[in-house]
Amino acid sequence: MNDLRMRQWIPGSSGYLEIYPERKVSVFKNPYVMGLTAVASIGGLLFGYDTGVISGALLYIKDDFHAVKHSPFLQETIVSMAGAGAIVGAAVGGWINDAYGRKRATIIADVVFTLGAIVMAAAPDPWVLILGRVLVGLGVGTASVTAPVYIAELSPSEIRGALVSTNVLMITGGQFLSYLINLAFTQVPGTWRWMLGASGVPAVVQFFLMLLLPESPRWLFMKNRKEEAIAVLANIYDTDRLEDEVALLVTRSENDRHRRDDIRYRDVFKSKEIRLAFLAGAGLQAFQQFTGINTVMYYSPTIVQMAGFRSNELALLLSLIVAGLNAAGTVLGIYLIDHAGRRKLALFSLGGVIASLIILALSFFNQSSGSGSGLYGWLAVFGLALYIAFFSPGMGTVPWTVNSEVYPEEYRGICGGMSATVNWVSNLIVAQSFLSVADAVGTGPTFLIIAFIAVLAFVFVLVYVPETKGLTFDEVELLWKERAWGMNPDAQSLLEN
Ligand code: BGC
Repeated sequence: MNDLRMRQWIPGSSGYLEIYPERKVSVFKNPYVMGLTAVASIGGLLFGYDTGVISGALLYIKDDFHAVKHSPFLQETIVSMAGAGAIVGAAVGGWINDAYGRKRATIIADVVFTLGAIVMAAAPDPWVLILGRVLVGLGVGTASVTAPVYIAELSPSEIRGALVSTNVLMITGGQFLSYLINLAFTQVPGTWRWMLGASGVPAVVQFFLMLLLPESPRWLFMKNRKEEAIAVLANIYDTDRLEDEVALLVTRSENDRHRRDDIRYRDVFKSKEIRLAFLAGAGLQAFQQFTGINTVMYYSPTIVQMAGFRSNELALLLSLIVAGLNAAGTVLGIYLIDHAGRRKLALFSLGGVIASLIILALSFFNQSSGSGSGLYGWLAVFGLALYIAFFSPGMGTVPWTVNSEVYPEEYRGICGGMSATVNWVSNLIVAQSFLSVADAVGTGPTFLIIAFIAVLAFVFVLVYVPETKGLTFDEVELLWKERAWGMNPDAQSLLEN
């Protein structure tokens, strides 16, 4: 079948949905898909709450443990060990996803996370607390790969971006919630145990709900558990589309049998298509972090103080506003990602990020040249708000969405996991170096460096990231084949032979 005809035949593709518009699925008309997405995205909540809560909790941990109060090393370790755990959790989690399924990966992440929350809440000394942080990090890392993949695989292609981005909304919402809780608890003694222990509750809730939910239909199909897969799909699609979706899966699984039986991880990067997909996916993850989102999320109170506002309360309040804007911007992203598409959204987002970073840099330059702090202080706050408003709908949502959809089925877990690992490693590098770089070269130049990285990110998206809006997984595979081997995918087999 030629390429064009094949695309019209692929259920869920734009050609198919033009012929059968009544078979389109919309988010709000499908409570089943919404329910699965809501439960899976509790993973995002754990991610957001855990990364957000620690800065506030640390203030009280210092009061309880004098060793921590007097040791910047212990403070840094308590903060950063969750990130270190997440690096490992994402890598191992990717493999668990492929080998044991998305459902088991979620359940395992919940168990490890809950254990970590209990260990933290009960910690008699800083080292036990650090152990708890590592466990929680392992859980968060695994959840960060699993939730997007699980959601993507149950999503009809026309609403996949919105559903995967719901998980990002839970990340940003979780961060907002944690800042609120930090503020609310400021007057209660011994609260850090509650702040950290409370994070176990959503994990326990997800654990029990997940036991009731199905495994991802795509993974079931790949593992030859076809009847179970069809039972899940039957809850998502109407009868006509269900027939077509199943027919395609059956044809594919027959054609690809040899591929499925022969999965060897060390061969992952032998395929040019996978190399291209991984470059796009991991590149987006690295740029998400190196364009500075977490300098803003973790250090916004500090940045506000650097801009000349000395009051702690004002700094905390402004950082709460930043977190709120971030969550609101994600909602916009959920709408835009399946309308404007991934590429346009990322480019638009990066354009605004570059402009905001330049504003931030200029305000700090002027401040250090002594031309008055009031006006330029407010300009810095404006730059910060503008940065978040542009970042969150695009660079917040697009990297996670693209990574949930660009890899072939049998490597979706492992490649998504490696790419999430890139995200967590980059996060750690940026978080660890921001303050020292700002100290060494100045805050203004630091924001200029980040602006320059954002320009590189813009070019990167332009050159390497294809548009995957509304494409079915099969179309995405075709797209990589075309990119790797030219317009005629048959060239691949000829060349390989
Ligand atoms: C990023 C996180 C970040 C968050 C900010 C997510 O997309 O992966 O690292 O903290 O956005 O809201």
